[in-house]
Amino acid sequence: MAARFHLGWFMNFSADEWNTPFASGGSPWSGRFYIEMAQALERACFDYIMIEDTLMLSDAYGGNSEVYLKHAVMAPKHDPAPLAAIIAAATTRLGVVATMSTTFYPPFLLARLAATIDGIAEGRFGWNIVTSAEDHAARNFGLDKIPDHDVRYDVAEEYMEVVNKLFAAWEPDAIMIDRASGTYADASKVHPINHEGEFFKVRGPLNTAPSPQGRPVYVQAGGSPRGRDFAAEHADSIIAVANGVEGMREFREDVRLRAKGFGRDPDDIKVLFVISPILAEVESEARAKQRRILEHPSFIEQRLATMASITDINFAEFDLDAPLPPGLTTNGERTSLEKFMQKGRGGEAKTLRQLVVDAGSGSSSIEMVGTPDQVAARMGEVMEEVGGDGFLISAPGFKVGRRYLSEITDGLVPALQRLGLTRTVYTQSHLRDTLREF
Ligand SMILES: Cc1cc2nc3c(=O)[nH]c(=O)nc-3n(C[C@H](O)[C@H](O)[C@H](O)COP(=O)(O)O)c2cc1C
Repeated sequence: MAARFHLGWFMNFSADEWNTPFASGGSPWSGRFYIEMAQALERACFDYIMIEDTLMLSDAYGGNSEVYLKHAVMAPKHDPAPLAAIIAAATTRLGVVATMSTTFYPPFLLARLAATIDGIAEGRFGWNIVTSAEDHAARNFGLDKIPDHDVRYDVAEEYMEVVNKLFAAWEPDAIMIDRASGTYADASKVHPINHEGEFFKVRGPLNTAPSPQGRPVYVQAGGSPRGRDFAAEHADSIIAVANGVEGMREFREDVRLRAKGFGRDPDDIKVLFVISPILAEVESEARAKQRRILEHPSFIEQRLATMASITDINFAEFDLDAPLPPGLTTNGERTSLEKFMQKGRGGEAKTLRQLVVDAGSGSSSIEMVGTPDQVAARMGEVMEEVGGDGFLISAPGFKVGRRYLSEITDGLVPALQRLGLTRTVYTQSHLRDTLREF
């Protein structure tokens, strides 16, 4: 039997489906919609739900925010940390991962927040470590532009040193709750960290009780060589977008090799590849669904607005029916830009419109379209060729709704379970242990 693999879900705390025939509303701000979603994912035994984040309203596409607000693409978007906390409180086994940026959160505040949510989650919290990519985010924090790509990773390296020291500042048995001696916590087991480095000066210790997992699970998404090294050194799970089976295998083998270089066991890092399955009772209907998503009048605009936002490149300037100008680079999300442009490599240069169509309906590593049984079998084959470790589902067409969620949790996942490919029961209570179960 093929090896089992892990499942995660990738989402934003932004509008759910609001203008389609089966729309679920568009006003998820109380968090209830996403709590119900997390409960459905828990029923399907997902490892974790991951909440993405950025810290600005973009105007990268066309020089104003019209397109973003009109389509509710990347905005409005709410803070993932409180959502993670209420999801944690409404579930018992599902991991909950929130994105927070090393460029903008002071490390003490971040470590305190993460320890707090890990406490609420009783050991199921993860932090998606990002360095942020947008000049406009920097402008909300007193800077004129985002620091250079590699400098962001230099800062992030020291940042990890600081938060790791903070998480370790309380010895695991520092809290005694000892009635006999009248001692709640043992002061001899709580230590200042006195960190002084190039970018940070932090005395410590945290004033929170220790995180149930010692430290939260670390999730990371960088795909550039610096990003891969960072992930290989620190991450418990990596979220990856790669081109096809070959790209996926290459990515996973590369980070596993890098992890060995850092003295880590590569099996402690679970690489989850983003896919956006499109499902229906029969394959032809699934294909028709895919076409409907791709041919939606606003699809191209939403895709290009998203790419513009994470790369600070104004894609509205380019002719849709001509190839992109050569030599486009970004100080933002490098891998995302490269992946988008790579679709055009080999043979004739594709037009921008064609690149959008070829990039597909989600931020997919590989196309998955068909019946639940077909897609489940394909996911099994792909994992076998790649070597592991699982997939991160993200809704196609930018927004998630109840119907799509149900297609995954009540169609695809049971099909995967019938093939013995994903778990049918949780055996662990902490997220890190759930990830390391197989
Ligand atoms: C699937 C995926 C999800 C990401 N989610 C976020 C996010 O929520 N917030 C963010 O600031 N960056 C996000 N990123 C960006 C990465 O964390 C990273 O900063 C970016 O890929 C640039 O690093 P690189 O140049 O090493 O690839 C994401 C990247 C990928 C591939």
